[in-house]
Amino acid sequence: MILQELEFGSEQYRSACRLREAVLRRPLGLPLSEADLRDEGNQLHFAMFADQELVACVTAVPISTNEAKIRQTAVAPAYQQRGVASDMMRQVEAILAARGYTSLSLHARKSAIGFYRKLGYATVGEEFIEVTVPHQKMIKKLT
Ligand SMILES: CC(C)(COP(=O)(O)OP(=O)(O)OC[C@H]1O[C@@H](n2cnc3c(N)ncnc32)[C@H](O)[C@@H]1OP(=O)(O)O)[C@@H](O)C(=O)NCCC(=O)NCCS
Repeated sequence: MILQELEFGSEQYRSACRLREAVLRRPLGLPLSEADLRDEGNQLHFAMFADQELVACVTAVPISTNEAKIRQTAVAPAYQQRGVASDMMRQVEAILAARGYTSLSLHARKSAIGFYRKLGYATVGEEFIEVTVPHQKMIKKLT
């Protein structure tokens, strides 16, 4: 399994968007539209590949020079519960730390809080609704 950074608009980026739509949006009956992707040229996109197949992806949004927001973590169903996302997140966190980011935040779906907690993220604030499902803000300091 290899981590790669994806160029916005590339074929690999499009492949990540298809995975995001299948894993994160379609189960909620929502599409991933072009409007959703409009600002993503300024964001950092990463994916895990098994041979040539893109099996997981995540996006990081620079908020300031030292703070980034993690979003759109998705793993293909056949590869879930095999350590792929935790491997991906640890590698992405190391890349972000090397680029000067010291603080990460994310909006975790309630169903995924336990996953992020195992990676050292802590919940802050109250639960809220986003894309129709309960979420919780979580944060992590990078050292
Ligand atoms: C949530 C998701 C990203 C986790 O990816 P994954 O590759 O299956 O996770 P891993 O195999 O790396 O799991 C790492 C650890 O977290 C645990 N874990 C995984 N998903 C979990 C969940 N939803 N809740 C609680 N714990 C979870 C695993 O059991 C494992 O624990 P262990 O180290 O004690 O064995 C993936 O299941 C997914 O894409 N789900 C659908 C989309 C989604 O909910 N994305 C998150 C949006 S915020």
